[in-house]
Amino acid sequence: VHRLRSVDNLFVVVQEFKDYQFKESKEDALKDLEDLVKKLPWTDPLKVWELNNSLKKKKTKRKKHNLQSPASKEKLSDVGEEGGADQNTTNDQEDCAQNPVAVEPAGGQDTENPQGVTPRDGEEEDSEQADVNAEAQASSASGTGAADGQPKVLRFRVTCNRAGDKHSFTSNEAARDFGGAVQEHFQWKADMTNFDVEVLLNIHNNEVVVGIALTEESLHRRNITHFGPTTLRSTLAYGMLRLCDPQPTDIIVDPMCGTGAIPIEGAAEWPHCYHIAGDNSPQAVKRAANNICSLLRKNESKDSSTALGVPLDVIQWDICNLPLRTGSVDIVVTDMPFGKR
Ligand SMILES: C[S@@+](CC[C@H](N)C(=O)[O-])C[C@H]1O[C@@H](n2cnc3c(N)ncnc32)[C@H](O)[C@@H]1O
Repeated sequence: VHRLRSVDNLFVVVQEFKDYQFKESKEDALKDLEDLVKKLPWTDPLKVWELNNSLKKKKTKRKKHNLQSPASKEKLSDVGEEGGADQNTTNDQEDCAQNPVAVEPAGGQDTENPQGVTPRDGEEEDSEQADVNAEAQASSASGTGAADGQPKVLRFRVTCNRAGDKHSFTSNEAARDFGGAVQEHFQWKADMTNFDVEVLLNIHNNEVVVGIALTEESLHRRNITHFGPTTLRSTLAYGMLRLCDPQPTDIIVDPMCGTGAIPIEGAAEWPHCYHIAGDNSPQAVKRAANNICSLLRKNESKDSSTALGVPLDVIQWDICNLPLRTGSVDIVVTDMPFGKR
């Protein structure tokens, strides 16, 4: 599954409830979620998680601002990543402003608990997300032994994504109480940034899915180092290209390439085609060129056969005046500008 190119995040499902009946009062609903933890079939999913550890890419440290910024999706604009026409809609972003820490400061009991809120990066359509961090006493964990013979204490965090207007609790509260119960059940240690296990609590109206994350950061970031305001996810770029069913020797053009997500994904995944990218914005062309350089450098460090280059050129041009002969292109694949969003 780690080789799938159109998948942003992978997780193993612990249990799925299609029609979970939430109690009306907040206390009762949260108590139910807490009680759920010890009834869930964790054993097999944890085995999958353990197996996955030997297969997945090495952990990259989470950026600090993820932790601190409650204005969840804003962090993407730090690197200018938010945006292609087919990504989150404006409405989604407004929904995200409902992030509990931003508009609903936790009162009473909440403020006593050290908490952080780290939304995952933009992949959910949702209204709010929260991770919980509560201090825990260290103890043994299932399955993973430490080198010195002592059982290794696993660190965990819970990420809750909640969507729907009928819930009496916030995602923050759900993550906090569910997290507390996970901690008690497994005797794991809660840690927001340096966690071994990320437990996912996805609540969408009456549907509840509890899972364990198998990827640590969204796979859509591959190959792009220089982001622009409308950079397309590599996972989407892959899907678009795949729909075109490229054949070896095909000439594939993205005439409005922006930072080059489509042609770069194309060159990486369909190296037997020739990819031509262009944009009328000099800045976009520069970013695309930088991204191609990064890909070249990455290839150089891999093996010598790909170090010579990537089958991709980037040019500044205007789509109304392409320097291409009629009939010389096999596939045109592009992510069009849709004006003001
Ligand atoms: C939605 S963005 C493409 C984003 C791109 N897929 C990426 O990953 O960065 C649309 C692009 O079309 C470019 N564009 C707009 N009008 C153009 C024109 N007349 N000729 C060429 N490119 C144009 C813009 O500069 C912008 O970079």
